[in-house]
This record gives sequence, structure tokens and C-alpha cells, in this order.
Amino acid sequence: MNNTRLEISDKGTPIKIGQPVSLTVDGKPVTVARGTSVMRAAALAGIAVPKLCATDSLEAFGSCRVCLVEIEGRKGYPASCTTVAEEGMEVHTRSQRLDELRRSVVELYVSDHPLDCVSCSANGDCELQDVAASLGVEESRYGVGEGGWREADKDSSNPYFSFDPAQCIVCYRCVRACDDIQGTFALTVHGRGHASVVTAGQRENFMDSDCVSCGACVNHCPTEALMEKTVIEDGLPERSVTTTCAYCGVGCSFHAELKGDRVLRMAPDKAGRANEGHACVKGRFAFGYATHRDRITKPMIRDRIDEPWREVSWDEAFEHTASRLRAIQDRHGPDSIGGITSSRCTNEETYLVQKMVRAAFGNNNVDTCARVCHSPTGYGLKTTLGESAGTQAFHSVAHADVIMVMGANPSDAHPVFASRLKRRLREGARLIVVDPRRIELVNSPHVRADHHLALRPGSNVAFINAMAHVVVTEGLEDREFIAARCEEAPYRKWRDFIASEQNSPEATERVTGIPAPELRAAARLFATAPNAAIYYGLGVSEHSQGSTTVMGIANLAMVTGNLGREGVGVNPLRGQNNVQGSCDMGSFPHELPGYRHISDPGVRGLFESEWGVALKPEPGLRIPNMFDASVAGHFKGLYVQGEDVAQSDPNTQHVEAALRGLECLVVQDLFLNETARFAHVFLPGSSFLEKDGTFTNAERRISPVRKAIEPLAGLADWEVTMGLSRALGYPMEYRHPSEIMDEIARLTPTFAGVSYSKLERLGSIQWPCNDTAPDGTPTMHVGEFVRGKGYFAITGFVPTDEVATRKYPLLLTTGRILSQYNVGAQTRRTPNSEFYSEDVLEIHPFDAEERGIAQGDWCGVVSRAGNTVLRADLTVRVQPGVVYTTFHFPSSGANVITTDNSDWATNCPEYKVTAVQVTKVAEPSAWQKEYRAFASRQEELLGKARA
Ligand code: SF4
Ligand code: SF4
Ligand code: SF4
Ligand code: FES
Repeated sequence: MNNTRLEISDKGTPIKIGQPVSLTVDGKPVTVARGTSVMRAAALAGIAVPKLCATDSLEAFGSCRVCLVEIEGRKGYPASCTTVAEEGMEVHTRSQRLDELRRSVVELYVSDHPLDCVSCSANGDCELQDVAASLGVEESRYGVGEGGWREADKDSSNPYFSFDPAQCIVCYRCVRACDDIQGTFALTVHGRGHASVVTAGQRENFMDSDCVSCGACVNHCPTEALMEKTVIEDGLPERSVTTTCAYCGVGCSFHAELKGDRVLRMAPDKAGRANEGHACVKGRFAFGYATHRDRITKPMIRDRIDEPWREVSWDEAFEHTASRLRAIQDRHGPDSIGGITSSRCTNEETYLVQKMVRAAFGNNNVDTCARVCHSPTGYGLKTTLGESAGTQAFHSVAHADVIMVMGANPSDAHPVFASRLKRRLREGARLIVVDPRRIELVNSPHVRADHHLALRPGSNVAFINAMAHVVVTEGLEDREFIAARCEEAPYRKWRDFIASEQNSPEATERVTGIPAPELRAAARLFATAPNAAIYYGLGVSEHSQGSTTVMGIANLAMVTGNLGREGVGVNPLRGQNNVQGSCDMGSFPHELPGYRHISDPGVRGLFESEWGVALKPEPGLRIPNMFDASVAGHFKGLYVQGEDVAQSDPNTQHVEAALRGLECLVVQDLFLNETARFAHVFLPGSSFLEKDGTFTNAERRISPVRKAIEPLAGLADWEVTMGLSRALGYPMEYRHPSEIMDEIARLTPTFAGVSYSKLERLGSIQWPCNDTAPDGTPTMHVGEFVRGKGYFAITGFVPTDEVATRKYPLLLTTGRILSQYNVGAQTRRTPNSEFYSEDVLEIHPFDAEERGIAQGDWCGVVSRAGNTVLRADLTVRVQPGVVYTTFHFPSSGANVITTDNSDWATNCPEYKVTAVQVTKVAEPSAWQKEYRAFASRQEELLGKARA
């Protein structure tokens, strides 16, 4: 296998953009952009110059001196990687003298490097070995180097890769990758000459340093010095399949590299447009869950949840499930059952679930987990701009001058995008962070926010209105843009509203907690930037006024003219890998694929004729409505694909009561998750490695998911849905997910031009993709908005019910951590738990002291919904009056305390604001004790089935 960590097409130095210059290399004419290195020019002419420290994803460094060339009219032997190509230059890359010099350099490297290539795990995947072989160097005239390199201890502290100083040639690639690509600055080189050695942090091991395990240093290491442990243990991969990460909404492209059926490494794909060869610890390393022993690979059924499971064949499972669901409908009516699609499954799978619900269940009771995260984005952006999606491609951030990050923590939740963002900030862009918490971006290596507006949870609308107030009252609007691009009457009305004193920074200061002068300064910075971009996350959407804030963000972008070109825009950072896709595919009860309302007879007619059934025109139940209806006794059957509502949805006790109220709960998942413990049918799911399909990331990019191994349970998720639908009497006959995509394209104007063959050709496609934009649309709303003219919506601030009181004086807000993902079902089953093994409660030292709480103490956290117990982490990351936790571990019960408050327009839960009291306690909460007992009983019942 070739070296796939850095592709063989590596041209040595990065691409440049500039006027053309022409030169010859070994007599071959070549024309390149001004600023291009001689090494890259040679590569473009088809001539590979030997190199060690250069690679085309990093700026040239010029340390190894292997890439020497001769240039007519110049003295000496310049390094081709650091020498810029010039008009008329005549370069020679081959001569006896050059070979002697290069050999001499390589012999010096070899003298300090063990010559045990045959037994080395990088044998066949080592650039030093390749260069030495190309120069005929088999041993060193200089003998074996004296000194410490060979003696230095190997660092195996990181669970995924190790560092062997003996193999290091001090080429600095790892240091540069960590600095320039990842932006963590965790590595340095200590010492000089032979004594120089790469170290993490202040001569710490990797695990104790600032390293975030992104793997960029490992990708870039030309030797075995930094190497994946899987490769050290099992040898080099034999084949590779290019696919898309199944974790977050960045949608990184990877080569899944395998030996037999075992994935040995996920090598980030340099051609991947979302990630350009970078990755984070989840996608790069945390793939072991796919083959974890907890995977359930046989369908199981039981009549009651206190009975042991019984393993059955797929056919029996389908027949049993269909007959139970039909029996429920006979007894309780056609609307007594429904389905939940997954933002982790592919577009094609999601499409099939909503199709099955509408066509086979015969109702519109379908919803998606996007309900609980980004449904306000859909509502807010559709209302103002006309399309329920972010406006830019990720690379657009490279053109932004001012970047406002609101209610998002990209370093933890969207790490590869965070690296891009930080690169732009290091280049000089200015940063406004709007977050109650001091997130990493506020002050990280070589990045410092110009403004950290630490607003009080629940005050987003007051804040965004105050920003717009400054813009309109200080004459900072983009009048030309507004006149040309926006509806005039709504604008005038909105302008009057926003200019009123109630929206001034001074008036809102007591609500937001942001000093008025600082907010004014931030607003001026944003409004006067040539290009200002907004990136936001769940800290915006998961509020009782989530939709209002999204509209406020769109208003701010419109009033400052920051839409419709690169470097600007409104960019929701989606949490899960396919949140965008699951919404696009018609998962909401009121919308068919492409966000078209179910009540529209024309749209419905299209689907009715393709699907051969009559569709109900009324929207069905949303997830919270399904739960309420179950508790009320008239919703009895639920099919949940790849979602864990018992852990992820708010007010856990209410959700549990709803699940217990069901007569038939069907869960399709990889593991017996928290929801499956209440299930009557378990249908084994397939991981992203086991199926074909597509995911759509936060920039509307549709990327291929390709099968690397056969489904462990025999069927991929799309085949399972087909099996159930067939048993329900509505057969769907697709031979491959490409046929499902063809149907989606036939029925959905924004997907009309999408096909698997085009995806093969282009790699990925940003929708809309149709006759107007056959290769997709990187930037939306260019020239005009999807709705025609932009609409300024009135965004009045209505305080949430969750306000701090004497009884509940603190405001709890929630978020994510880099190494864990969502409910943790995947990452908890990988060594990522070595980085973060429990959810903790972040509390400001003042609040802790008032309550007699010390670091690590158990704290009871009580809200009006419930209570739980978490360990205290005293930190100034949170402001006084605010506490914070993550929700990656079920036993933490983070959602036992979140309430059922929700967004007025979409029912998205208000996860981000819960009024709580915190006290020091000595034992777990009653819910936690019950949870542990129930979970262990369910494990026992599962164990019996498996035995
Ligand atoms: S894994 Fe990433 S963060 Fe850690 S040292 Fe390497 S490049 Fe830096
Ligand atoms: S660890 Fe690898 S990349 Fe880093 S300096 Fe050593 S050889 Fe180069
Ligand atoms: S989790 Fe997100 S940022 Fe990390 S590799 Fe996967 S898609 Fe990329
Ligand atoms: S590759 Fe040019 S100096 Fe190392």
C-alpha cells in the first residue's frame, strides 16, 4: 500500500495564487503562480525532488537540506522548498554532485536513526526509508550517533498514538502541523543539534500536555516516530475506503484504512473539502465503538420490559413488529403510532423512515432529533432569508474580517472548523465571543477575543436586539444592501422597533449583564468590518426564544449587508453529523423533503403519485407531543431509529413515563441504549462503516458514506426500514441507496442535480444542486435571497420563565466536551473516556464557597423538574451565578433537571437555561439510584438473551 498519510501527489509546498511565471525544470517548461516554490514547480512538471521536512499542507521550513537543486546563474545549491520560482529560471534537480550532497545529508539522518526498517512498523510507509532507498543509502558512513535520542523513553501515554524519539529526525513537521493546522501549539523542540528532541508541552508526556489528540502531528510525521498504536500492533493497512465522519456536523472526509475487515486507522482526506486533511480526536481515532463487544447484532423481541429479551430472525422481528403496530392502530386509531428519524443515519435512511411513517403508518407522526437542537434554525432562517440552512462554505471564514461566535464552542464541538477559524484569527481577523462561559476561543494560544460578551443565560434576544439597535441608531446600516435586497415595509417597521430605547445596550444591560459600552464597541466593530460573519450553535437555538434569536441574527446580518458573498453570512454549527440532512429529508411532521409544507396539495400530489398512496394533509405530532400523548394514554407505538431520547431529551422523568406508556417501542440502534431499555423490539443498527449513503454537513455539503465492512447484523439500516415497511404491507424495493437518492432528486428541487455518479466525480456537493447550480452552491443568497427579498422579523424580547429566584438562585447551562459526543454512546465505548470520564458541574469559586463546596465534592443540583448529583469543578470559566455541565453520561442525569420549557415556534427544548439550587450532598439522587437499579436489571435481561 502507498503512503496514504500524505498522498504520493504531495507537491512539497502549498498552492499559491498569483500572476504566472514560467521556468524550466530539468529542461521541462512549466508555468506556475508567482510565489510558488521551485519544489512545487518541479512536482507540477512531473519531477519529484527528494524531501523530508516539506509537505504541501505546511509552509516550507527548509531544515532537512535534502531537496537541494542547482539553478543556472546561481551559486551553491539552494533548497528547492524555500526557493521561489522566478521567470526564466532554469532548474536542475539531478546531477552527480546533488546526489552526493543529498546522500551525505541522508547518511547523517540515518546515523541518528535505527536501521531496523524490516522490523519497523512504518516499513513501507516511511519517507526517510523512501528517500534513502532512492539515493541508494543503506548505511551511514558516520556510524551510529552518540547521545540521547536512542536512549530517550518512548511516550505511550496517549491512548491512540505513541512517540518514539529514537525514530525522530527533527524535521519539525509535527511542530508545524500542531501550530499551523491544529492551532494548539503543544509541541516544541528542546535542545540543539544531536541533542534536540521533540517534546509535548513543558517536557511533559503527550497526555499531560495541552495536546488535544487531533493526530495532525502523526499524519505529518515522515517516519515511525509518531505512529498510531493500531498500526504498530497490527501492521500497515492493506486497503482503504474514502468515507465521511459520523460524528459532528463538520463532516470530515477520511480514508478508512483496513487490514482484512479491521479498520486500523482513519486517515484524514486531503481532498475532503470540509476538512482539507485535518481531523479531531473523535473522527481520527474514536472509531472502535463500531466493533465494540456491546454491539447487538441479532434482532430481539419481548412482550414486557421486565421480561428477558428473545433473539429472533430478521423476518420474525419484522412480522412481530408490524403485527403489534397494526394491532395498536386497530385499537387506538391510525394516529396512535409514529416514528423518530436519526441525525446520525444517512440521508437515504432518514428519507425512508419518514416515507414509511407517512405511507405505511398512514400519518405524519414523524419527527427528528433536530427538534431538540436546530429546529429554530430552520424556522428562523426560512422566515427571514427563505432557506433553512447556513449560508456559507467553511472555507468562507478565510475571508472574514470580524467573526462573531455566539452560543457555540467550536474548539470542543466543531474542532476542525475551530482550527480553520483560529488560523484566520492568527492572520488578523477580529473576534467577538458571545457566551456565558469563558470558552477556549476567548483566550487560547495566539488567539484572544476582542470582546467576550459574557451574557446571562436566557438573554440572547435582548443582546442581539441591542447589537442591531447600535447599528441603526449610530447610522451603521448598509443602506444600499437593504434597499436593494430587503422588503421595505417590514424593514421600516423593524427599524422603528429596534431603534426604540428598550433595545438599547443601556436598557438591556441589566438583563444581559453585558456592560453597555462594551456591547456598543462590539457592535461598531461588527458593523464596520468589510466582511463580518456570524457562527452560532445550540447556545442560540435551545432557548424558549431560540427562533427569535435566529431571526435576530439574520436581521443583524442583513442590516449590516453581510450576506451573499464569501467571508460573511449566518452559519449555524450543526451538532450531529447529519442534522442538516435529517431536516432536509422531510423528518419534520409538517414538511416533506425540501422543507415543503405537507398541506400544499401540489407538493403532496408529487409524493402521492411517486409513492402510490394518499397522504394526510395535516401535520403530525412533534416528539414532545408524542410524549405528552403517550402519558395521556392515546399514543401507543413508536419506532426510533438511531436516537436516544431517554438520555438526550429534556425532563427525563417525563420522557421515561412516556416510554413506559407505550405498548410497542421499537428501537433500532448499535447498542442497548437508554431508550432501548424501555423497548419491546430491538432492531440492530449498522455503523457508518457498514453501509453506503450520504451525510449532509453544516455547510449543506452532501458527502458520500461508503461501506468499508459488511453490516455486523447482516442488514444496513436502510434495509431494516425496508423490511419493516414490507411487513407493514407497503413494500419499498431499492437495490442500493443510490436509487433512494435518485428518488429524492426526482422529488426535491434543491436536490434535483444530486446523484451518486456526480458525487463520485465531484467528491461532495453543497445543495442547492440543480439546473441553475449543477455543481452545487457554496454561497447562498448571492444577488437575491431564496425568498426574493430579505424579511426583517420583529424580535421582541420575552424573558424565559427560568429566571433565578431565591429558591433556585443559579442558572444552569449545558454544553459538550471535545472528546465525548452527544449522549456518549459511541465515544464512551472508546479510549476517549480516558480524556473525560464523567460529567461534572462547573461552578464559580464564589458560588462554591458560599455553599461550602470544595473541588471534587458531590453537589446536589435541584431544579423545578428534578434533581441530580454531580461532582464539583471549581472554575472561573463560568461567571458567578451560572453553573454548567455536559450530558455525555446517562447516570449524570443532566436532563433530569432540564425542564420542558421550549421554543415558542418549534418546541426546541430550553436546555440552555434552567434555574437551579446547588448544595453539598453525600449520596446520589433518588433518580440516580433508581436509574442504576433499572439499568443493571436491563443489562441482566439482555445478558440472558445473549447467553
Ligand atoms: S495530536 Fe494534535 S494537538 Fe496533539 S501534539 Fe499532535 S498536532 Fe498537536
Ligand atoms: S516526530 Fe516525526 S514529524 Fe516530528 S520532528 Fe520527529 S520525525 Fe519530524
Ligand atoms: S468529529 Fe467533526 S471535526 Fe471531528 S473528525 Fe469528525 S466531522 Fe471532523
Ligand atoms: S525538504 Fe526542503 S529543506 Fe527539507
